[in-house]
Amino acid sequence: MNSGIVLLADDDKAIRTVLSQALTRAGHRVRSTGSASILWQWIEAGEGDIVLSDVMMPDGDGIELLPNIKRKRPDLPVIVMSAQNTVMTAIRAAQAGAYEYLPKPFDLREVISTVERALATGQSGTASAEQPDGEAEALPLIGRSAAMQDVYRVIARLTPTDLTVMVSGESGTGKELVARALHDFGRRKQGPFVAVNMAAIPKELIESELFGHEKGAFTGATQRGQGKFELAQGGTLFLDEIGDMPLEAQTRLLRVLQEGEFVTVGGREPIKTNVRIIAATHQDLRRLIKAGLFREDLFYRLNVVPLTLPPLRERYDDIPDLARYFLRRAADEGLPQKGISRDALEALKAHNWPGNVRELENLIRRLAVLSPEDTIDADTVEAEFAQSPVMAMPVVDEQESMTQAIERHLKKMFANYEPGTPTPGLYDRVLRELEHPLITLTLHACRGNQVKAAEVLGINRNTLRKKIRELDIPVTRGKNVVY
Ligand SMILES: Nc1ncnc2c1ncn2[C@@H]1O[C@H](COP(=O)(O)OP(=O)(O)OP(=O)(O)O)[C@@H](O)[C@H]1O
Ligand SMILES: [Mg+2]
Repeated sequence: MNSGIVLLADDDKAIRTVLSQALTRAGHRVRSTGSASILWQWIEAGEGDIVLSDVMMPDGDGIELLPNIKRKRPDLPVIVMSAQNTVMTAIRAAQAGAYEYLPKPFDLREVISTVERALATGQSGTASAEQPDGEAEALPLIGRSAAMQDVYRVIARLTPTDLTVMVSGESGTGKELVARALHDFGRRKQGPFVAVNMAAIPKELIESELFGHEKGAFTGATQRGQGKFELAQGGTLFLDEIGDMPLEAQTRLLRVLQEGEFVTVGGREPIKTNVRIIAATHQDLRRLIKAGLFREDLFYRLNVVPLTLPPLRERYDDIPDLARYFLRRAADEGLPQKGISRDALEALKAHNWPGNVRELENLIRRLAVLSPEDTIDADTVEAEFAQSPVMAMPVVDEQESMTQAIERHLKKMFANYEPGTPTPGLYDRVLRELEHPLITLTLHACRGNQVKAAEVLGINRNTLRKKIRELDIPVTRGKNVVY
């Protein structure tokens, strides 16, 4: 085991005590202080093997100290802890060269294991030359929940890289916002951010949309047109709704990513690509792969760094911050300025939010306009929920039978393969597509009770178990799985 001398700085004595005890028990030696200037004295004197520092101390800021530490002791790893756990704290820490950023309250085991990892690799973070932007800057993302902290840490770690990122999450969880933050705080922030939505482009236009076309390349191409790849040169290309990309276009995209160059429609000269790719989807790509609708090799090219955004119902704690933020924004845009009561916030927390943050944003806007009082109260919120109970739910045609729904999907799938035919094994793939939701929803209805679910389905218990394994169906007891 790597034991070392930990320089611990935090103005909260209780935290110092807890951390010192835990670190000592794990075999390290600890020097602790509540002062940034004492910490700096130790570092200057060459003491310690690792620094564990709070951000806000009465006589200084742990992150502001970082550039000096990097200059004086470039190999000394610094772990930054903070209760100011916004996305900007994470990004500032990463940009100033912190080894790791730990939001408070922290898990002691995580602190110890991070310390030991840093001691073992003896490596400090990569300090970027750039100074973090001004402190008072507006936050690109709102929310301090544990679920969002994980997202912030990934974003922060990615700022000094050009790695390809796959952002997934339900509709309205902030995928595009995260893609923008990755660009705005990344190395290419001076370059363009170009978004293209695969679901919005007719199939036959996708190639020219992505790669551009020459004059006369097809009917209607009266002049040369730049594609998104060209427009995004030097910057970031955001491929939104990547799961909706037709197979043929997937093949083209894969080749471009592999070869690092593209040719316009009707053109001959290859053009070198210089774009950072961020893709996003609300679909389960692994299931699309199994169904033969998404290329596995393309998936692995894009899924270099996966980043999953939590649905709003998994971070109810963020609702008050988000609600107040959207009220402020509404007021900035000229809508009436409103406050919101504590009860109203509780009422918001009781909702399931199938449309996630977007649904909340829209609701708050409506409330800002509709609420007769200066402060939005619980009754107004409840009345609004009662009025639009299915708000943001996907539009389902109630008249559509299951057979019609399946037929609609199959037609779309066959169209996707045109002019070719689907890859062999279609029968089994389609059945799996059907079995997956059937079994998942039955299990859900039976609260995870497999004996009951087998009975409802009318199949043998062992058959059900086998299917669950084969289809990778998550088994959870109780009713905490929401669809
Ligand atoms: N963490 C957040 N803080 C502030 N605003 C947010 C946050 N997350 C989402 N929003 C807002 O919610 C709305 C939806 O976000 P966004 O468009 O990024 O979602 P999405 O995941 O791309 O949705 P879709 O899958 O429907 O395209 C936007 O107006 C965005 O500004
Ligand atoms: Mg989006």
